Amino acid sequence: MPRAAGHLQAQGGGGCRELQGIFRRREGEAPPARRRSGKLSQTTAMSGPAPEITESFDPDRYRDQSLRQWEGAAPGWERRQRQMREFSAPVSEWLIEAAQLRSPHCVLDLASGIGETGCIAAARVMPQGTVILADQAQAMVAAARRRAQELELANVQCRELSAESLDLPAASLDAVICRWGLMLMADPDAALKECRRVLRSGGRIALAVWGAPQRNPWAGAPMGALIELQIISPPPRGDAREGSHLPGMFALADPNALRQRLLDAGFGEVRTEALELTRSHPDFEDFWETTLDLSSEVRSAVAGRPQAELERIRDAVRARLEPFIGADGSLAIPALALVACASA
Ligand SMILES: C[S@@+](CC[C@H](N)C(=O)[O-])C[C@H]1O[C@@H](n2cnc3c(N)ncnc32)[C@H](O)[C@@H]1O
Repeated sequence: MPRAAGHLQAQGGGGCRELQGIFRRREGEAPPARRRSGKLSQTTAMSGPAPEITESFDPDRYRDQSLRQWEGAAPGWERRQRQMREFSAPVSEWLIEAAQLRSPHCVLDLASGIGETGCIAAARVMPQGTVILADQAQAMVAAARRRAQELELANVQCRELSAESLDLPAASLDAVICRWGLMLMADPDAALKECRRVLRSGGRIALAVWGAPQRNPWAGAPMGALIELQIISPPPRGDAREGSHLPGMFALADPNALRQRLLDAGFGEVRTEALELTRSHPDFEDFWETTLDLSSEVRSAVAGRPQAELERIRDAVRARLEPFIGADGSLAIPALALVACASA
């Protein structure tokens, strides 16, 4: 993919890995290897073997903390709106084509964030179609409303909605699009079933998640450096014994598993595809500032640290990104999105 200056990708995880206190100890099981600052801590590096699972996931606490975190992330996302739009354009285009949008369709942009994809959809379904921009976070919904007003889109509604329990009538929509939201949900299967319920028969779903972490070094570098410097703990891995889902940026990176989830939710004609993107920055400083704006996890991990320590963190992140830094100091970091579509 050609490189374009100023393109970026949001820290799609939005700092969800930072969510703390969402794992409960299992009765009778050994305590975690060690604890730091009250967090679950494990001795393996992110790229090392899967640690033994000693904690179980508390979905309600996760939901509360996810909501708080995304409320706080909205201003940074709004600041980076233009770069995000440029970077993610191929994914938005794919979703809108795959959802087969046209007037007078009624479309839901689920986990809409600041409403980027939904606003493109709104223009596509004019003159008679409508789009609901829906997110759990009030601050995201407010930002989405501002974006729709800026674009003078009169066919957009903005709503606070939880994806796992949609306050919408059955069979009321023609399409659902969801860009980089599903993998962050406590119960993505419940969300997919809700999408199926609100879609009319033959309606379309089109969604994007992130591919494997090793294909997304733009996200892995800051997190890897913070883990290496023991500033944050590596995230626990999924619990295979219960087949449970641990939400996170890369939680739905397996295309076959994603296909199966869509089938299990009652969708048919499932198609998945991998889209290669490039996160481009004029220099490392721009990458770092953008990361702080978009990732509340990285921002809170470095907040208030002395200058010397900040320098050490930045150097560690930069070292991890060295293979993607050109002779002129600009960055072109690969990213891989997994996109999927299906029929209700
Ligand atoms: C990475 S952002 C993506 C935003 C937008 N779709 C985009 O591509 O720019 C994830 C969004 O998902 C929302 N979200 C996460 N879990 C949700 C849920 N259970 N219900 C509704 N929104 C949710 C967050 O509030 C956040 O705005």
